[in-house]
Amino acid sequence: MAQVTLENLTKKFKNVTAVRDLSIDIQDREFFVLLGPTGAGKTTTLRCIAGLEKAEGGTIKIAGQNVNDWGPAERDVAIVFQYYSLYPHYTVKQNLEFPLKSKIRKITPQEIKQRVTKVAKTLQIHHLMDRKTDKLSGGEMQRVAIGRAIVREPRIFLMDEPLSNLDAKLREVLRAELKGLQMNLGATFLYVTHDQVEAMTMGERIGLLNKGRLIQVGTPYEIYNNPINTYVAEFVGTPAINLFDGLIQESRVVIIKDEFAFELDQSTLNRLNGFSGAIKIGIRSEDIELAVEKGTEGRIYGIEDMGMGKIVTIKINDHLLRATVDAKYHFEIDTNVHFQLNTEKLHFFNKDSGKNLI
Ligand SMILES: Nc1ncnc2c1ncn2[C@@H]1O[C@H](COP(=O)(O)OP(=O)(O)O)[C@@H](O)[C@H]1O
Ligand SMILES: [Mg+2]
Repeated sequence: MAQVTLENLTKKFKNVTAVRDLSIDIQDREFFVLLGPTGAGKTTTLRCIAGLEKAEGGTIKIAGQNVNDWGPAERDVAIVFQYYSLYPHYTVKQNLEFPLKSKIRKITPQEIKQRVTKVAKTLQIHHLMDRKTDKLSGGEMQRVAIGRAIVREPRIFLMDEPLSNLDAKLREVLRAELKGLQMNLGATFLYVTHDQVEAMTMGERIGLLNKGRLIQVGTPYEIYNNPINTYVAEFVGTPAINLFDGLIQESRVVIIKDEFAFELDQSTLNRLNGFSGAIKIGIRSEDIELAVEKGTEGRIYGIEDMGMGKIVTIKINDHLLRATVDAKYHFEIDTNVHFQLNTEKLHFFNKDSGKNLI
């Protein structure tokens, strides 16, 4: 069993609080993604769990045991960094063997050979074994770095943006491989990224971090469909959610008086439970239907052809609304278009605090 529990973890660097009162419960064998912008405190959190930083406050538990006073080696976690941390003048094989050769471990040469061979096979790097690591491509280097973590058979894998220096195609391949690997190993993964697409595609659950604070934890579905506030709503989704100031007046939402206003459906009204007044309204691009006969009128302002679909930007007065549509539709810039919203899927937030209303 290797669950990781953080309770009120706080880490400061002089006057910067990198991690603030962070509590997360990562299950045994879970693929948990910590997502957040640069400077959110992701790396610091991993370093605290690995025992490379000492926290000022809070508790870190691994498999239920308080490890606050344990050294990095005792914690039995492996960390893979964003920048390949290999020994450049050693071969791939030597790099893989190295973590097993420490005196404390007392692993027999036979077992070292077995483990290294197995890892090389798993990561498909057996043909590179005799090559020096400074003669490898970025993708190969990161595979070896991951191999070096696996060969130790740790209880927990900590991964700090391991794919962010790779090109897009390779990143996609390795994402899938890492997911498969985690399932095969039956290991607990805490994976850090600033990339919301990566978080959504890989995470069983995601924790969104900002300025050292945990904003929301949930499955990709929950984070996307029930964002706790406008920060989360804007952080996930491509294109970004459309967010407008608006008013709820009885059964209507008014974004621009007489120009951009619409009736709400009964189930949404029930969800709003009689709320009226100023709000922020969030509209996901896929919840907009274009090329309809009636509805709100706007002007086509931009078209991005993505091949499999299009992102169409519509201008309504001075408001810009981005919609995703099927590739089969044809639009022309500077022509008028009508659109309707799937009102059941709208998001309503408090105008000031940004908190989700329902
Ligand atoms: N060793 C350090 N000394 C001083 N400040 C640091 C140090 N490490 C991180 N910080 C600060 O802590 C905050 C969080 O950093 P970090 O954990 O690296 O964020 P992330 O990995 O999410 O980009 C940042 O403001 C960063 O400048
Ligand atoms: Mg970082």
